[in-house]
Order: sequence, then structure tokens, then C-alpha cells
Amino acid sequence: MNQSIEVKVPDIGDFSAVPVIEICVKVGDTVAAEDSLITLESDKATMDVPSPAAGVVKEIRVGLGDRVSEGTVIAIIEAVATASAAPAEVEKAAPAAPVAPAAASVAVTIAPKAAPQPIPAPVAPPAATLGNTHASPSVRLFARELGVDLSRVPATGPKGRIVKEDVTQFVKGVMSGAVAGAAGGASLGGGLDLLPWPKVDFEKFGPVDVQPLSRIKKISGQNLARNWVMVPAVTYHEDADITELEAFRVALNKENEKSSEKTGSKVTMLAFIIKACELALKKFPEFNSSLDGDNLVLKKYFHIAFAADTPNGLVVPVVKNVDQKSVSQIAVECGELAKKARDGKLGPADMTGACFTISSVGGIGGTYFSPIVNAPEVAILGVSKSVMKPVWNGQEFVLRLILPLSLSADHRVIDGALATRFNVHVAQLLADMRRALV
Ligand code: COA
Repeated sequence: MNQSIEVKVPDIGDFSAVPVIEICVKVGDTVAAEDSLITLESDKATMDVPSPAAGVVKEIRVGLGDRVSEGTVIAIIEAVATASAAPAEVEKAAPAAPVAPAAASVAVTIAPKAAPQPIPAPVAPPAATLGNTHASPSVRLFARELGVDLSRVPATGPKGRIVKEDVTQFVKGVMSGAVAGAAGGASLGGGLDLLPWPKVDFEKFGPVDVQPLSRIKKISGQNLARNWVMVPAVTYHEDADITELEAFRVALNKENEKSSEKTGSKVTMLAFIIKACELALKKFPEFNSSLDGDNLVLKKYFHIAFAADTPNGLVVPVVKNVDQKSVSQIAVECGELAKKARDGKLGPADMTGACFTISSVGGIGGTYFSPIVNAPEVAILGVSKSVMKPVWNGQEFVLRLILPLSLSADHRVIDGALATRFNVHVAQLLADMRRALV
């Protein structure tokens, strides 16, 4: 004969008035013994309350967010008449058995003492699921059965919890090709299998101020992280002797100040560097390319981006068709784009279509650095502060203005010899722009 069982919250240790954060079943569901009925979450642990017997859910006596303590009736199960579990036994509980400990919250299953089946031994999930994923043991078990790495599943449950439906949706996405494979994404091979981000209570060590990241920082951060991980880049350093070029630039700007047609805009070193890079892109077309699967897309246009520092973070506006513009025009356009960037007024058209990027920190300082390739571009030139240095000319040391160049290039497209040739060419052009004419 079928038997109605009142399922009560068992002994949950020191906890009381613990909120219900997930209801795993609905009235009419058929459950097996040990299936999770509800999940509770204290500030220290997540706990599933399993069904004591196989049967049908007749009533659910709690709602999401309700607070429950030991003895609270959570559901009525009509048990199929095979189990030896008596209602009286159900109320007593064995200590919790840990399953799938997580960094931020510990998940435990509370098993009735007289449960008809033994508690399964704790099974450690793959390392990647041990991160900051919040999911009940039943969901973790479900994910494990399907081989799903929970750290890759977007959560829709309360407090960022992953619910069973999220896992189902994720699997559907993988099957339809909308989501990269569970192993970590086709392009990432076996996945990075990284440790979770360290969670530190900094206030334990001293006062702190928590500020949300700006929108720009969040977006650029994601791009930078992807590029850092996915582009096998090497950085090549070179020194450019810009003694004459700087003297010429200063003279030009002085002339411009005196001229009746003065435009009010200065010719900058950045504009000369952009021009030199355009000429080097023409000489070494692999630098003006992008990888697209097994193809290399070689571009016939010359759009060069430059990194601009703004109060909200880094943005990368693009000077289009630099091959059709003079150095002065490029300088004016850089000035306008940099102002737009600082005023937060750059539109998508201002920031797309680049072939190559220049990151100049020369106005600030620095010697050399290692810029991150701005994918799908294949190279980026970092520029640091020019300084007067003694240089041996074969007979004596002479003081020259030296500009440090740091070129990072994607080794899948550009090998070290080619990168060095590019760097040397840029340096030669900056040393003597007459080379642009020959
Ligand atoms: N060496 C020495 N001095 C340099 C120099 C260099 N490589 N580059 C610029 N300067 C000097 C300029 O001549 C100028 O001096 P002046 O006022 O006496 O003429 C001064 O530094 C300021 O130049 P700046 O305003 O930086 O102009 P710019 O055309 O060189 O650069 C931007 C424009 C937009 C690139 C710049 O404002 C900027 O944002 N730089 C930071 C980019 C960044 O954060 N990159 C890192 C990305 S991770």
C-alpha cells in the first residue's frame, strides 16, 4: 500500500531559519529515493534535502525564499510501497556528507539516516567546476553525468545559481553549435583548466574602497584577456634614431605658429610613426593581414589605430586610409579622435576596421614594453619615450635622440626574421624619412 510521508528538514547542524533557494520538483513529479526536493543555503553551505523514498510528490509546503529549520515539513511524498523507510525514520538525519566543495560555498547533501540507498561517495568534479559556480549537489550531479563543466554554464537562478534548466540549455547550445564544445571551445583545444580566481577578503588586511569597473574597462578587459591567451605573440625591440626627424618636427611646428595660415594643430611624432608604419605595411604585407581559419586575409587598405588613454580607460580609435593622407592630416585627425575619445564621443565607426595598432606612451615615459596584439590584427607597435643617448658612430660617441620601439607580432603569421625586418624598416624610415621617396 502506498504511504504518505511527511518530509521534514533534518538535523542541519548549527543552522536555523535557512532560506530555500531552489525547489527541484513540482507536485505530481515522480521521484526516486535520494532525488533532491529542495535546496537550502546558509551563509556557509548549500544543502539539498533529498526524498527519503521513491514516490510521487503530493504537496510542496515551502516556497522559494522561505526560511526553514530542523523539523519544518517541506513536502509530502506518496511513497511506492517497497521501501523499508518508515515515516518516523525520515525525521532523523545523518550528518551531512560533502559533495563538490566550492570555493565560495560548500554544497552538502543531507541524507536521511534510514535512507533506502547508500549515500553515493563524494565525487570530485573536474577542477574547472570548482570555481565560483553556485549549484546544488543535484545540479552538480546532473552536470557531471552529462560531462558539463559548470564554470561555463550561464546561471539564471537566484543569487547567480546554476539551475538544472541552465545545464539543459547549455547542452542544447553545444549540440546546436551555438556554444563551443564542453571541452573548453574548439579554438582553445583542451581548455585552460585554470584555477578559480582567488577570493580574498581584503578588508581583513586593511581598509579598502570597492569601485565598479567602467564599461570601457570591462569590454577592453575581455578583449585583452582573449588576445593575451589566444595570440602566440613575441615582442621585438628596436631603437630608432629620430634626432633629425624631431628637429624637423619642431621646426615645422615653429613655422606653422608663425604662418598666417596656421591651423593651430601641431605635427606630432605619433603622426610620423603612423606614416612610417603605413609604409612598412606596404613593404611587408603579412603585417596588414588577419587570420581567418586556415586563410590569411591580406588587406589592400591602410587603417591604423592608436591607443588613447581616457579617464574611463583605454580606447583605440582608427585613422582610416592613412596612405591617402599627409603626416599633417594624420596629426590633425589623431588630435580630433583623441579629443573625441576623452569626451567619450567615439562611435563604433571610429573604432573599427583597423589593420595595425600603435600604442604610444612616449608622452608619459617608459623605455620598452610588451603590447598585446589587438586581434584579429597580427601586430602592434609600442612606442616609449625618446631620450638622448650616446651612440658610437664608428669614431666617437655622439648624442642622438633615440626612440624605443617594441613590436609584438603573432608568431603564427610573422616569424622573428620578418618582425625584425619590419622593425628595422620603421626605424630607418624614422631616422630618415627621405627613404619614403625611394
Ligand atoms: N618621446 C618623447 N616625447 C614624446 C613622445 C615620445 N615618444 N611622444 C610624445 N611625446 C611628447 C610630445 O612631443 C608632447 O610634448 P610637447 O607638448 O612638448 O610637444 C608630449 O609628449 C605629449 O604628447 P601626447 O599628448 O601624448 O601626444 P601624442 O600625439 O604623442 O599622443 C595619444 C596622443 C592619444 C597617443 C596620447 O595622448 C595617449 O593617450 N597616450 C597614451 C596611450 C596609452 O595609454 N597607451 C598604452 C596602451 S596599453
